[in-house]
Amino acid sequence: MSGASPAVLLLAAVVLGGTLRAPGGSPQPDLDNRKHMELKMDQSLLLIHNELPGTDLIIYWKSERCYQCLFQFLVNISHGRKPGKPAFASVSVSTQHGSILQINNTLEEREVCRLEYKFGEFGNYSLLVKHTHNGINEIACDLVVNKNPVDSNLPVSVAFLVGLVLIIAISFLRFLLSLEDFKYWVSKAINSQETDHLINSDLGSPSGADPLTGDPQPEAQCASASGHRLRCLDTFRGIALVLMVFVNYGGGRYWYFKHSSWNGLTVADLVFPWFVFIMGSSVFLSMTSVLQRGCSKFKLLGKIAWRSFLLICIGIVIVNPNYCLGPLSWDKVRIPGVLQRLGVTYFVVAVLELLFAKPIPENCVLERSCPSLRDITSSWSQWLLILLLEGIWLGLTFLLPVPGCPTGYLGPGGIGDLGKYANCTGGAARYIDHLLLGSDHLYQHPSSTVLYHTEVPYDPEGILGTINSIVMAFLGVQAGKILLCYKGQTKDILIRFTAWCCVLGLISVALTKMSENKGFIPINKNLWSISYVTTLSAFAFFILLALYLVVDVRALWSGMPFFYPGMNSILVYVGHEVFENYFPFQWKLDDNQSHKEHLIQNIVATALWVLIAYILYKKKIFLKI
Ligand SMILES: *[C@@H]1O[C@H](CO)[C@@H](O)[C@H](O)[C@H]1NC(C)=O
Ligand SMILES: *[C@@H]1O[C@H](CO)[C@@H](O)[C@H](O)[C@H]1NC(C)=O
Ligand SMILES: *[C@@H]1O[C@H](CO)[C@@H](O)[C@H](O)[C@H]1NC(C)=O
Ligand SMILES: *[C@@H]1O[C@H](CO)[C@@H](O)[C@H](O)[C@H]1NC(C)=O
Repeated sequence: MSGASPAVLLLAAVVLGGTLRAPGGSPQPDLDNRKHMELKMDQSLLLIHNELPGTDLIIYWKSERCYQCLFQFLVNISHGRKPGKPAFASVSVSTQHGSILQINNTLEEREVCRLEYKFGEFGNYSLLVKHTHNGINEIACDLVVNKNPVDSNLPVSVAFLVGLVLIIAISFLRFLLSLEDFKYWVSKAINSQETDHLINSDLGSPSGADPLTGDPQPEAQCASASGHRLRCLDTFRGIALVLMVFVNYGGGRYWYFKHSSWNGLTVADLVFPWFVFIMGSSVFLSMTSVLQRGCSKFKLLGKIAWRSFLLICIGIVIVNPNYCLGPLSWDKVRIPGVLQRLGVTYFVVAVLELLFAKPIPENCVLERSCPSLRDITSSWSQWLLILLLEGIWLGLTFLLPVPGCPTGYLGPGGIGDLGKYANCTGGAARYIDHLLLGSDHLYQHPSSTVLYHTEVPYDPEGILGTINSIVMAFLGVQAGKILLCYKGQTKDILIRFTAWCCVLGLISVALTKMSENKGFIPINKNLWSISYVTTLSAFAFFILLALYLVVDVRALWSGMPFFYPGMNSILVYVGHEVFENYFPFQWKLDDNQSHKEHLIQNIVATALWVLIAYILYKKKIFLKI
């Protein structure tokens, strides 16, 4: 396929998808439904009984995960009207994390008691506030379980087990099929070669010649000395992409499949940086092979610029899905986004590599000046620039004065930090976006609203964080360099990947002090903090190494089914965003508040995209821009 026409088609599909999308496709759940006491997902019922005569109580609540948060008002309970007839109130409490309840005496604003408890989903609990039998002044808060909660993680465990069984069954089948005796027996028994062929193709093992060896797909090309492509990068990209589709579709509405509210890591926080990392590796490998084929740098530069431009355009269309429904206006258009971030990162990293590309970069093994550090010393100039960029990130983050906020603030604002810096969400990162793009053009529902009740817009794909995603991509380039420089020398690759993994891991330990919130620079997806980058690059080096050994060196696993979406990442990414609200990727659930139903829906939708990628692979359709 040529460069321009599929891209234009893609853009058309995106526009079409946007126009067809129903207004308010995914309504925000109304969380304040306490009057009707209809329990929502991740809530349990709590009946609070005030058995203290003549004392009114005021109950506050906060989440255990909310770091240095203010207590939030939950409910007032007056004393019972008649003696022996206590007053009570029923409230719903969140069950995602542990809860801390503070029960204060209204009159004296004195703490009566405090309760820390992890409530379970759809449970029914009673909290009895009463005098102990010992003394009149001692007050006890006893928690009674009226109805046991459900095990909300059960569907995840079941899905995991089913997946595991499937993998084992398929591996076993493949193993059987690889035995000559068994093949003979099967063809004897069924007496049909077609069946054999059918089973083989169903299992997704392109037996014999790989249909792609001849396909020049520079974006993902990872050619090694013998001419066969490395599958580890496509597999890793596929794993990240499949996870990304799953969490974008909701991840069964589990909190650990959603982004963390501020500091810390959840499953959802892993995928984007990995994607950036692999993009770095692919960019380097494809560029090297294109340059080796004699393409001029200038022409390549034009291509890079065009691709980045397209990525950014498609990205802006995708993150503004309802642009066709209201009057066309630029007032509220969100500018940053995932593809925009990828586009800018791609441009910077590709140009950086292009500027310093050696005529024959493959020669690095032969040069013996400093062979053990060859992969780093050969690109010291790029490293200097990257370090300079990182210096800019550190400087802006910690030294830029932000009006009304402490300089170097990294916190979430809102009710965090005891509510002192309510509108300081993200410190310098938000301020820069606010100045350069305007708050109306940023993401309006950041994940920090969930726990920290922040009110200002904050964009997790903002400008300042882009610097760190460039650093992440450059670490990916480094991985690509190692793979290319030492191709065929498994031991050298192993040592270097392990070393990078350890060094980056140690930097992360030092920056975070092994703590979620108390380190110098906590791990944070919203800020793309440098510790987030080093931690996830350490993971990425480890995973890439494992995949390289298992998929390429030992060929124990073909990388299926992740390999297929990995080969068609742009199509799957754009497709899953555009068709998010359409059947069969989404349908009306019987019980909108059930994790199980959401999980099934999201897994089916994700599996469908894998299937689509598989079919396209078989038909040799690869969309690239
Ligand atoms: C709860 O009680 C406090 C103190 O008496 C009062 O200020 C507040 O308005 C009450 N809140 C509600 C919702 O009744
Ligand atoms: C509850 O009372 C304690 C004093 O006993 C006070 O420090 C605290 O601020 C009160 N809680 C709230 C939310 O006002
Ligand atoms: C919760 O338990 C209490 C006490 O057993 C009961 O009175 C109440 O009806 C229960 N509520 C629900 C919604 O099941
Ligand atoms: C924070 O921003 C909100 C909404 O923009 C505004 O209502 C509030 O007054 C601001 N708070 C402070 C402390 O500036």
